[in-house]
Parts: sequence; C-alpha cells; structure tokens
Amino acid sequence: MSRQIKIFDTTLRDGEQSPGCSMHINEKIELALQLERLGVDVIEAGFAASSEGDFNSVATIAERLKNTTVASLARAMISDIDRAYEAVRRGVSPRIHIFLATSPLHMQYKLKKSEDEVLRLIEESVKYAKSKVSDIEFSAEDASRSERAFLARAFETAIKSGATVVNIPDTVGYCTPTEMYDLARFVKENVKGADKVDLSAHNHNDLGLAVANTLAMVEAGISQVECTVNGIGERAGNAALEEIVMGLNTRPYLYDAETRINTKEIYRTCKLVSNIIGVNIHPTKPIVGANAFAHESGIHQHGVLAKKETYEILSPEAIGIPENKIVLGKHSGKHAFSEHLKEMGYHDISSEKMEELFLEFKRLCDVKKSVSNKDIEALLSNKKMEKNLLYTLINFVINCKKGNAYAAVSIKCGDEVKTVIEEGDGPIDSAFRAIDVVTGRTFMLCDYGVQSVSEGQDALGESYVRLSLDGGAAVTGRGVSTDVIESGILAYIDAVNKLLI
Ligand code: KIV
Ligand code: ZN
Repeated sequence: MSRQIKIFDTTLRDGEQSPGCSMHINEKIELALQLERLGVDVIEAGFAASSEGDFNSVATIAERLKNTTVASLARAMISDIDRAYEAVRRGVSPRIHIFLATSPLHMQYKLKKSEDEVLRLIEESVKYAKSKVSDIEFSAEDASRSERAFLARAFETAIKSGATVVNIPDTVGYCTPTEMYDLARFVKENVKGADKVDLSAHNHNDLGLAVANTLAMVEAGISQVECTVNGIGERAGNAALEEIVMGLNTRPYLYDAETRINTKEIYRTCKLVSNIIGVNIHPTKPIVGANAFAHESGIHQHGVLAKKETYEILSPEAIGIPENKIVLGKHSGKHAFSEHLKEMGYHDISSEKMEELFLEFKRLCDVKKSVSNKDIEALLSNKKMEKNLLYTLINFVINCKKGNAYAAVSIKCGDEVKTVIEEGDGPIDSAFRAIDVVTGRTFMLCDYGVQSVSEGQDALGESYVRLSLDGGAAVTGRGVSTDVIESGILAYIDAVNKLLI
C-alpha cells in the first residue's frame, strides 16, 4: 500500500505574506471552506499573535471547519503560544506551529542568541505549547543553511519536549533537489525519535525549485508537505499545492505515495485564490494555466486527436476544469439552472442566494448570446462579499469625449441613495472620483486591470482594483459585467466595502 502524504496548506499564512495578497476575513473563511472541500489535512490559518485581524480569522476558521486540523503559527515565546492556543482551541483538531531559526546566520544576526539559548527556547516553548494542545509542530527556520549536527539537536529537543511534527524549511529557496533529499534523509536517519513524528517539507521558490525540492523530500521519506495554492508566498513564493499533488498523482509508481486531495476541486480552488487576491494565473502556469492543456502546433494537435496521451500527461477533467461549452440560455428555467450548478459541484447554495444568482443569470442572458460554464463561475465568484455591504451600486451614467468625462454614479448606502457627478480624465477616472465623493474618503488606487472571462465581443469583463486607505495595506476588489466600465465600478465599490467594513 502506498504511503499517505499529509498536505499542509499555508496559503492563508505564508501565502498571505506575499506582497499585495492580503485577504479579507470573509475571503479567508470562504477559502478555508474550499480547502476543506479540496481535502487538505492541515490549514495554517494565520499567525494569531501578529494582529487582531489574524487572530479573529484563525479563531473563526478553527470553529467553522469540521474535518481539518487548523494551525496557528507562533514564535517560540509564551505570549505568541497563548494567542495561538486561544485562536485554535475550539477547532476539532487544533495545532500550534512554533518556529525558531537554527542557522548560524539567523542565530547570530537576527536572534542574537547562542546555540544553547536556542535549544532552551525550543524546549521551553514546545513543552509549554504541549501543556495546551497535543499536536505541536516545530519548524527550524532556515534549516537548509543550518549546521547539521546542531539541526539534529534542535529537532531532538523539540521531539523530546512533545513535538508531533518537525518541519525542515528551505526558508530562502537556496537548495537543490539533491541537497533537500539528502537533508531529509539525514534527519530521518540521525534524529532520535524522528520515526515517531511526521517529518515535513517547506520549500520556497527563489530559484524555481520549490516543487522539485518538495518531491525530492517525499522520495526521501517525509510524510507532510507544506505548500500554497498557486504557489503564492514570500518573495518568489512557496511550493505550489496543485503541482505537488498532481506530480504525486501522475507518477504513482515513482513516489508510491498518495494524498487525500480530491483533485477535481483543484481548478476551482486555484481560481478562487486568483479571484481573491486579484492576480491572474499565468497562462503557462503548470496544471491550471490557460495554456496547460492547449495544443498550438499542428503536429501536437494531430497527435492529441489521434490519441490524447501522445502529448497529454494529465487530463483537464482530473483537476475539475469545466468544459467551456455553452450550457444554458435565455429559456432555461430556475430548476435547470440549479441542477446545472449542482452538476458543476455547487451543492450548498442557499435558496436566497440561488434566487439572486438566477436573476443575474437571466440578466446575463439578455445581453449575452450564450452563457458558458466560465460565465457561471464568474457570476458565482462575484457573490462572495454580498453580506453586510456598506455601499451598493444602483446606477451610473457616463458622458465622455477624448481626454475628459463626466460620471454620475448612484450608490446605496444604508437606506439612502446618493448620486454624485464628477469630472475625470476618462470614464473610469470620473466614476472612481464620484465613488470617493459618495464615501467621503480619498482612496489610493494602486492598480486597476480588466480582462475578459470568455471569448467573443459580448464576453463578460472582469475587473480588478487594488485600493488602500490612509497608507494602510491595499485590498483587491473584483467586479464582473458585460460592460467593462460597470465591472470597474463594481470592483472599486467591492474594494471600498472591504476597506471600510
Ligand atoms: O519559510 C519558513 O521558514 C517559514 C517558517 C515559519 C516555517 O515559513
Ligand atoms: Zn515559509
């Protein structure tokens, strides 16, 4: 029987540390629920001691998830462990994840601590956390640049003090697959007690080797992999979950290892993360990029038509890519619509939400000749912030000529509808200015982009707006409409709602 590899997803912690990838609490909850559906074993929901916001999202996610271990990161200090414990304790299977650096560079310049002091901190912090929950992970930050003899002592101390998982990070993405294989073997064969705990891989992608390093460590015998959806994370990111899982799936005889992941949920999870952070998946991204299954050259097309396996090692169905065929139209009724959503895997839509979605679908049918699965997915992801909105778009009128425009925007705020007319350089600029006036705030526009969801002139336009307020962290808003100006306005209002709620 093949070995079971646990998937530890850190999209909500290490992933969120990537510049511009901060998420709203509602989005974090939505993503955590999707990760549970995907079948990950552990979700690192945040770093509870780092902020009130992180604490609240870890605590809420721990309470909401029913089958998944929820972890919070903590430094090797009592106050961090207390916060982490408070946040995860209501979870079905809480974990505290303690980290401390073990490389000479980090100990001397960052921690300013001797080896003995570091060992003492590991012992004290792991024992203290163990008095609170039974599942404790210890990470030796910068393990790959640590001296091996000392790293072994650090891990032995953690295991003796109660750690159930020891993690071997390549924190700066410096090492190669052969080196990480060798390091994992070293830990497995030389650390006393290593056979009683899970050994874990955590690789960063600075040299583009994170997934290769992780798979090499699986070959070396580790039993947990840490990764993020779409590989988002600090600097060049972390090892990508979907690439590791499909690597293991596609080469079962090579790795003789499997995961609990429902691969059919991969595409939806990757799209959700991309929608939340407002960063498109690169077309050549392995597994989920738009070109991952496209065959351009005639020779390849001919081969694939004759036998798929000539040029395809994975199938789009395996990761749940919806066929982009026309599925429903103007004459489809609510029953057909809701049955179709179920076929697409959306089983838990409330009747109230279904009602709203159906109205939007009908509106879309009026302006778009044919509605495809991609359009329906765009409508669904448009609904993610519908509760507790401060501002909702009612209507807008734009009057423009080259270089100058007027926008009249009507926005509902509580029971009141405010209409403001503003002048700007173009339709988008004037509309955004009008929204600022309605809210009485001046937002800083960090980025704005628009792309089409599907092909054709009547395709839905999907806009992203990155906004910040008073020098704070930027958030991403998203809007979808067949009218690109409207999609921009909706995206701006979405970002405003996130910043102000
Ligand atoms: O990269 C790293 O070393 C980390 C640790 C906190 C596990 O993210
Ligand atoms: Zn990391």
